[in-house]
Order: sequence, then C-alpha cells, then structure tokens
Amino acid sequence: MKHELMAGPAAPVVIVGAGHSGVAVAAGLRARGWEGGILLLEAEKGTPYERPPLSKELLKDGAPDESAVLRKEKFYQDKRIDRVAGIAVDSVDRAGRTVLLSDGSRRAYHRLVIATGSRARALTVPGAALPGVQALRTRDDALELKRLLVAGARVAIIGAGYIGLEVAAAAAAKGCEVTVLEFQDRVMSRVTSAPVSRHFEQLHQRHGVRFVFGAAVTDIEGDHRAERVVTADGDVFQADVVLAGIGVIPNQELAAEAGLECRDGILVDGHGVTSDPAIYATGDVTRFTSPIDGASQRLECIQNAQAQADRVAAHITGQPAAVPEIPWFWTVQHGVRLQTAGVRRPDDDVIVRGNPAGGSFSVVYLRDGRVSAVDTIGGLADFRPARKLIARGDRMDPALAADPRVPLTEATLTGAVLNAPAPIHADPATARS
Ligand code: APR
Repeated sequence: MKHELMAGPAAPVVIVGAGHSGVAVAAGLRARGWEGGILLLEAEKGTPYERPPLSKELLKDGAPDESAVLRKEKFYQDKRIDRVAGIAVDSVDRAGRTVLLSDGSRRAYHRLVIATGSRARALTVPGAALPGVQALRTRDDALELKRLLVAGARVAIIGAGYIGLEVAAAAAAKGCEVTVLEFQDRVMSRVTSAPVSRHFEQLHQRHGVRFVFGAAVTDIEGDHRAERVVTADGDVFQADVVLAGIGVIPNQELAAEAGLECRDGILVDGHGVTSDPAIYATGDVTRFTSPIDGASQRLECIQNAQAQADRVAAHITGQPAAVPEIPWFWTVQHGVRLQTAGVRRPDDDVIVRGNPAGGSFSVVYLRDGRVSAVDTIGGLADFRPARKLIARGDRMDPALAADPRVPLTEATLTGAVLNAPAPIHADPATARS
C-alpha cells in the first residue's frame, strides 16, 4: 500500500493555500519521497511569500518592496510542484474528490490539504471602508501601508497586539505621530502577562507612541478618506491613516461548506486529518488538541505551520512524524525581541526572572508548579531551556526560577536538590523540599 502510494496515484495531492504551511506540505512531500503529483493552489498572485516581514522589515524606509519569498520559483520547478496562483478554490466535492476553482475548472485530488490560513478581522464600525483605513495581512496590504506611513502622518492604530505594535514601531521610526487605541487595559493581553505588557508599553512610549486603553472605537469619520477616529467615550483622534490590527479569524469556510467539522478552526487530529480521511488541514486554520496539555487550541505561528505541515506530509506518505514540538512565537518592536516558548493561560502563575529595567529578562509561567510557557525579552538565554522544561514537565522551584543567576534547567525541584549545594538566594528549606 505504502509503496503504491509513493509511486503516485493518478490524481495529485492538491494543496489549497500557498502560505507557510501549504508550501511546507509540498516541500515535505518531496523531501519524504512522494513521487505523485502535487498541485498548489493560491488565490493571491505571485510567488508565495513570508508574512512575518510584512509588519517589520518591509515597512522600513529604504527596504525593497519585494517581501521575502518562501521558495524561489526554481524550487517549484525542480520539485515538480505545479502551481496555480490568482485563482481561488470555491468548493470541494468530497464524494467526487474534486475541487471547483473560481475560473470554473475542476481539479481531481488524491488527498486534499486545506492550508487556507487566517484573515485579518475586519473593523465593522461606520467609516471602516474609507480610504486610509488599512488592515495588514497580505503583501499588498503591507505595500499600501508603507506608502501611507510618511513622516508627520497621524497614525491611529486600533489594537495593541503583535500587528498593531509592530506597525506602531515602524511608523514611529518613520516620524509618524502614533496613537494606539486598545480595547483592553494593556498591550498584548492575549499573548502575555502584565509585566511584559508594561515593559513594551514603556518601550513604545520612549519612542513617542501614545496609548489609549479601554478604547472602544465607534466611528471613523472623514469626507473622502479617514480623518478622525471616534471612541465610545466621545474622544476624537485626528488620523491620516488608521490601521486595524484586531486579530485574525480562520479561513475555514471552504471546509465548513464541504461539511467538515469546524469550531473556530477546522478540527484535525495529530496528523492533520480532518473529519474526512481524504482531507487534511494545516496551519493557522486548524484547531487541534495540544499533545502537551490536552487543551483545544488554534495556534497562529510559523512554528506550528511548519510542524503541522510535516505531520501531514508524513501521514500522506505513510511515514512516522517527528515528535511534537513546543510551539513558539516572536515579535520585534523597536529592535526589542519578545520570544515565547509554550502557550500561557491567563491564570498561570507569573514569575519575573531578572530585572525588566535592565532591558533583558524572562517571565516564567507555571501551571500546577510546572512550566507552561516562558517569555524571553531582549535575550534568548532562557528560550531553549524553556522548551526543554515544558516538554519534560519538571516541577519548578519558584524562588530559583526567579533568580537569573540559576540556569533555568536547574531551577527545578529535583535540580534544586541535585545542583544547588549553596542556594544563591532561595531559602535552603525550600530548595530541599
Ligand atoms: N478596538 C480596540 N482594540 C481591539 C478591538 C477593537 N474593536 N478588537 C480587538 N482589539 C484588540 C485586542 O484586545 C488585542 O489586544 O486588538 C488586539 C489584537 O491582537 P491579536 O489578537 O494578537 O491580533 P493581531 O495583532 O492582529 O495579530 C494577528 O498576526 O502577527 C500575526 O500570527 C500573528 O496572531 C498574530 C496575528
């Protein structure tokens, strides 16, 4: 059976979506010896590109307009990966194993891989369609934003997540006047804890960025283009550019309309298989059970896009997949990197490790005494140890974990017994408990 599949069935593996995960499935299939056809379908035109630089390097003054491509054109030719770019997939006929394209043509599939990613959540207030109101998800979005971010422009950013804050940093660096309007009471509240939020808020403030928290935008006003943003409190902010960075939603409609199980994401198992065994899904668009803690999750990160793609390629070719990895995430703002290992929950215990005022520190999150996630800010020393500890599930000594002089891997309760003959600052009684 396996040999038969590798020799290649009549119909190709059809991949819908040439983002990071879709391209990684195609590459992974060839890397694993798949000899059958591969067809990569993408609604956007051009060579598939990377998204992280769109809100960072691409916006900088003097940066070339070409965003980094995921793979050069030659790669697709060499690996015999057929591509159709600029045509959307409209529907899936599961019984006939075909997809219908927006140009009216049909393509048969042996296996279908849905890697449609996510889209920027749209701002729905009156005036949201005025010119000058932008989202940032595609290369075209980024190029339009780049054009608008000129010195002296008044930029109102709605949402203080990764996207809003990365754009705030780029805009401030270009000499724009930046105001961030955030619904919650702190920045990046979805992904990090209060001490890290505070650190980044202050960093932005030092670069002249202004924050308004608890801000509910009700209107965007202007005659022919955006001129003002109005909030529920009645505050009015003059703006030449309005950027909405208010989260993403999974592009699951194709799957849902085909009757695949979806719940804020296409439901997949550990191999990326959907509720139809001939259809896989991978990347931002999926929801699955975390192999680490059993939580139902949808991860918006490159690491997951890559790892899940590899599992899909492994399953299609009948090969074992790699051991699940600890997910990780990053953002860079004003040159300061926040890199997170693991997935924090709001009720995890928070241990600040090091002095934020020094610019470089970590925050360790504990759930039932074990590391669930670690934020590293301005330095990556704790990053690898963090992934190791999360995977191992060691119980931690909170006092040792708070001490940056103790290597994180030695801040475990076992480590405290074995490796801390002279505890540096922890109460020896605790260290031995
Ligand atoms: N008004 C003000 N703020 C809002 C509103 C609103 N109407 N709606 C949402 N927000 C705030 C949220 O409270 C949150 O702080 O917008 C922020 C959105 O943050 P994220 O959910 O992290 O989303 P975003 O920054 O858009 O990033 C989306 O892009 O960088 C990639 O994959 C990365 O997950 C990330 C994704």
